[in-house]
Amino acid sequence: MNPEMDRLLREYRDYIEDYLKNNCFVYPQEPQQVLFDAMRYSLLAGGKRLRPVFVFDFCRMCGGDWKQAAPFAAAVEMVHTYSLIHDDLPCMDNDDYRRGRLTNHKVYGEAMAVLAGDALLTGAFSALATADLDAETRIQGVKILSRCAGELGMVGGQVLDMQSESRECTPQEVEDIHTRKTAALIQAACCLGVLAGGGSSEQMDSAKTFAHSLGLAFQIRDDILDVIGNAEELGKAVGADGNKNTFVQLHGVDACQEMVRIYSQKAEAALAAFPDHRFMESLCRGLINRNH
Ligand code: IPE
Ligand code: IPE
Ligand code: MG
Ligand code: MG
Ligand code: MG
Repeated sequence: MNPEMDRLLREYRDYIEDYLKNNCFVYPQEPQQVLFDAMRYSLLAGGKRLRPVFVFDFCRMCGGDWKQAAPFAAAVEMVHTYSLIHDDLPCMDNDDYRRGRLTNHKVYGEAMAVLAGDALLTGAFSALATADLDAETRIQGVKILSRCAGELGMVGGQVLDMQSESRECTPQEVEDIHTRKTAALIQAACCLGVLAGGGSSEQMDSAKTFAHSLGLAFQIRDDILDVIGNAEELGKAVGADGNKNTFVQLHGVDACQEMVRIYSQKAEAALAAFPDHRFMESLCRGLINRNH
């Protein structure tokens, strides 16, 4: 990434970090402090903030004021964080480390981790509903995020992912799992950015195409990193997907790295609908070989 792009990435990340830290779940007078602590423990644990970056940059590419999209960016990051807290629970992937620290349930216990996830999900829709944007935009935002996060999107994908552990899946089935459990939330982020930026319906369609391909590339790289990655760099355990149906199990690491490249190129091609898409293009290229 050249210095100009790098500066924009830092600006987006700093902005969402400050926004989450200062505006989300700070209630000094309320008695259930442990809940707020548990929510903020995971929310402020310093993920890559990729989904907020997508919200901001799709907004900017559509000619909008990206800072105005901060509540939308925060909402997607809240849903993403809740999905990770629940994904790590003993009844799901049973992981001890996330974002370089102990998982939520390891620190706060399972019941509190479930509840922190519940409240983050609820808080996301509050952030959308109360954003400083016109009513129609907020309603559309609720529609986008609920569709992508819910039973047809991320949650549906997590169900298929769990069910797939006990049997072999076809490549089409694995693609469907990835599309739902990972690409759907990335799609929500890109579409919320287009929405906040006042983009056209063609741009909305291109954002969906982009997110589908990029989401697949992103999850395949995640599955590759489970095999060849470094736990310290990743901030989570490696070698945890042994009994899962991933493309890496089906095709091996090298073929999968080629798939990552092809899906990323497909994603880049969908950016043609956006003038000044250089930042997004260079972000995609960086993600192909990401190590965390
Ligand atoms: C992890 O997402 C879960 C997947 C969908 C692969 P990220 O890799 O974006 O996690 P953070 O937000 O940086 O922790
Ligand atoms: C994550 O898939 C998908 C979610 C919706 C959380 P993984 O289970 O592969 O994510 P990691 O590897 O735990 O981050
Ligand atoms: Mg999982
Ligand atoms: Mg997991
Ligand atoms: Mg994984």
